[in-house]
Amino acid sequence: MALHIVNHPMVQHKLTLMRMKETSTRDFRELLREIGMLMGYEVTRDFPLRDIEIETPMQKTVAKEIAVRKTVVVPILRAGLGMVEGLLMLMPSARVGHIGMYRDELTHDPVFYYYRMPAGKDRTVILTDPMLATGGSACDAIRRLKADGYHDIRMMCLVAAPEGVKRVQTEHPDIEIYTAALDNGLDENCYILPGLGDAGDRIFGTKTK
Ligand code: PRP
Ligand code: URA
Repeated sequence: MALHIVNHPMVQHKLTLMRMKETSTRDFRELLREIGMLMGYEVTRDFPLRDIEIETPMQKTVAKEIAVRKTVVVPILRAGLGMVEGLLMLMPSARVGHIGMYRDELTHDPVFYYYRMPAGKDRTVILTDPMLATGGSACDAIRRLKADGYHDIRMMCLVAAPEGVKRVQTEHPDIEIYTAALDNGLDENCYILPGLGDAGDRIFGTKTK
């Protein structure tokens, strides 16, 4: 299925600020929250509307509302958490699930440690993770969601490498991917180039070396 590049000027400008190495933890977190909300417009663009009758202070009229669409935002821990608040600003009633995994430093394979979802498999899942590098974490998360019974899953990231996009499209061809940028590739440690560094460390200020 499709790769959607969200090239809105506001998103692109904020992403550039996030890429800069001198951007502070505080600003990085705030920018990711803002981009999360802005990208939320694109991720939810196909949500169906229905007509309802309302009364303005002037007269009765027919207006639009989102036809019942239950949504669950699912961050891949840790970095995916940075996009949740922005999405919840758009969809205050959305539920939040969590999938915990980190990449093994040597093999770069995802190591799974946590899974918690709300009730109801009929929900639209918005899976968030700012970085789609090798695609290992995203593919494993999607596989677990499908095995648990979810069938409407879309992936929202911020920076994607061609390798990660290809892997998700190969292993899960039914998944729509939304990203603000498709970067050049991966370095020898499977970090995205030019990328923005380690997203989790930059959000939470945990860089140790
Ligand atoms: C990062 C990122 C993704 C993953 C992407 O997480 O947030 O989850 O790497 O890489 P992949 O596409 O090659 O799987 P990390 O392992 O650094 O964990 P953290 O968010 O807890 O820091
Ligand atoms: N995880 C990150 O946080 N950044 C990358 O570039 C790749 C994986």
